[in-house]
Amino acid sequence: MNILAVETSCDETSVALVRDGRHILANVIASQIALHKQYGGVVPELASRLHIVTIVPVLDRALRDAGLDWSQIDAVAATKGPGLSPALLVGVNAAKALSFARQKPLLAVNHIEGHIYSNWLIPEAGAASGTALPEPQFPALCLIVSGGHTELALMLGHGSYRLLGKTIDDAAGEAFDKAARILGLGYPGGPAIQKAAEGGDPNRFSFPRAWLKGTYDFSFSGLKTALLRKTQEYGLVTQKPSPWQTQPAGDAAPATPGRQVPVSQRPVPIADLAASFQWAAVDALVEKTAAAAAEHNVREVLVAGGVAANSLLRARLGERLAVPFRYPPLVLCTDNAAMIAAAGYYRYAEAVTHDFTLDIEPNARFA
Ligand code: KG4
Ligand code: ZN
Repeated sequence: MNILAVETSCDETSVALVRDGRHILANVIASQIALHKQYGGVVPELASRLHIVTIVPVLDRALRDAGLDWSQIDAVAATKGPGLSPALLVGVNAAKALSFARQKPLLAVNHIEGHIYSNWLIPEAGAASGTALPEPQFPALCLIVSGGHTELALMLGHGSYRLLGKTIDDAAGEAFDKAARILGLGYPGGPAIQKAAEGGDPNRFSFPRAWLKGTYDFSFSGLKTALLRKTQEYGLVTQKPSPWQTQPAGDAAPATPGRQVPVSQRPVPIADLAASFQWAAVDALVEKTAAAAAEHNVREVLVAGGVAANSLLRARLGERLAVPFRYPPLVLCTDNAAMIAAAGYYRYAEAVTHDFTLDIEPNARFA
């Protein structure tokens, strides 16, 4: 069964074609990072406008990459949420139009569930050599760490979840993004912090972890504030934009972001600050995941979302977990439509299809 999926929940326009929930036939991703970078974060209105411009060329390319015609496509899936409303609308409407015009079932997929199902996709290398990993085994523990979400959930079967814990303030990726902004490292923050931390001393600064004992919840805002205080001690401050700097046009356009500038002669140990921050953030994720995996006797751990790309997180999980764990290849960690097609496949198998009254769900929950 071939599913065409559309993903536009945030700042990636993506269309994919996936066979039987696991084999990627095409996965075209147009990133908007260059656009949002100048504002230090995603501007929803601008994201929506760029999705509208990009969606058809991306669709066209995906169909050509997959080499399928419409008679070989069985269903159309789209991300219904969670995500940014103006961005989600573009993808859901595109999927509705395709479903209507081509008379194919329409599937609505939860974005977080999509991230989880990126672990079902067979990486290209495995597909080519025929050495695909077997499917994940239940019960599994899912650690979802993205720009908007940080959740620990038990997965008992397809579409069957039990939420164990979540962030009570910033998401893990959001914490990386804010930390990068504090250190003047740019957007997106995760890769920037990881890079800056290379060669840094993770023990130089002892940043706080909010253990929230007795729960599997997370909190990253105290860590972010501690980093801010420490950088201020070194005289690194956000320089407000000058009043004569040109502001971008449009209602939703944010103020020009501040720039980090040192105001004292003391050298700022950026590498050590980044390494210590990264160590503290990863520590909380790893310790809670290890404890939950042990308590619930899971067969494996599935890591998903943009922060799953973090190499320290992967290494530390490998050291701490007593059960196998897996994470998607880099390109499938961040937003992509292949994961939406994979989740859609298992939803389709359970006959969860939608009619044309389907609406977006910007605050959708998956568990
Ligand atoms: O899953 P995703 O593409 O977007 C959401 O659905 O939210 O994740 C994007 C997030 C960003 O916050 C980005 O900073 C973070 O993933 N990220 C990383 C790394 N690569 C991306 N965080 C830590 N280390 C990385 N290497
Ligand atoms: Zn995502």
